[in-house]
Amino acid sequence: MSAPSPGPEQHGDPEHFRHVLSHVPTSVVVVTGIAPNGPAGMAVGSFTSISLEPQLVGFYPANTSTSWPVIREAGRFCVNVLAQGQNAMAARFARRGGDKFAGLPTRPGPYSGAPILDGIVAWIDCELEREIQLGDHSLVVGAVRDLGVTESDHPMVFSRGAYPELA
Ligand SMILES: Cc1cc2nc3c(=O)[nH]c(=O)nc-3n(C[C@H](O)[C@H](O)[C@H](O)COP(=O)(O)O)c2cc1C
Repeated sequence: MSAPSPGPEQHGDPEHFRHVLSHVPTSVVVVTGIAPNGPAGMAVGSFTSISLEPQLVGFYPANTSTSWPVIREAGRFCVNVLAQGQNAMAARFARRGGDKFAGLPTRPGPYSGAPILDGIVAWIDCELEREIQLGDHSLVVGAVRDLGVTESDHPMVFSRGAYPELA
């Protein structure tokens, strides 16, 4: 038996929207940048590969993000793909403001100079190509300048508000 279709009153309901979309699993990445005042970073579940020729990737920062404007200013950013089990890292970079990098070992991305975190499975170093305003988020498109795989662990997955283990 399939679940009943939502009525029109549920269609515009933001909680219903959140609930339904929480069933779409995503990766969890930390987008980092290096500004004159130091590093900035934010946890992102909306990262995606866009184009092979040219190599483009993208994600959707909220208009309310305080970290994204700092990263945008640098014009370059690094996408850190978190590994399964890096729950504390995801929580650290989902916090608003504060020094998210305190006590964290990092190395600079070869193109962007933005932090590459320890224990991640892959990194993608980008030049900011363009940003398109879309509702209460924007689409950020990055031109890939360098990238690599660092660990053979499973990547972290976010699904229905949790980080399920893959194997
Ligand atoms: C699993 C996960 C996925 C997230 N995905 C996004 C996203 O795609 N876009 C976004 O703007 N914020 C996303 N967030 C929330 C941001 O990480 C958070 O709002 C942000 O870091 C707030 O801090 P800031 O003001 O320093 O940017 C996500 C958080 C988590 C835990």
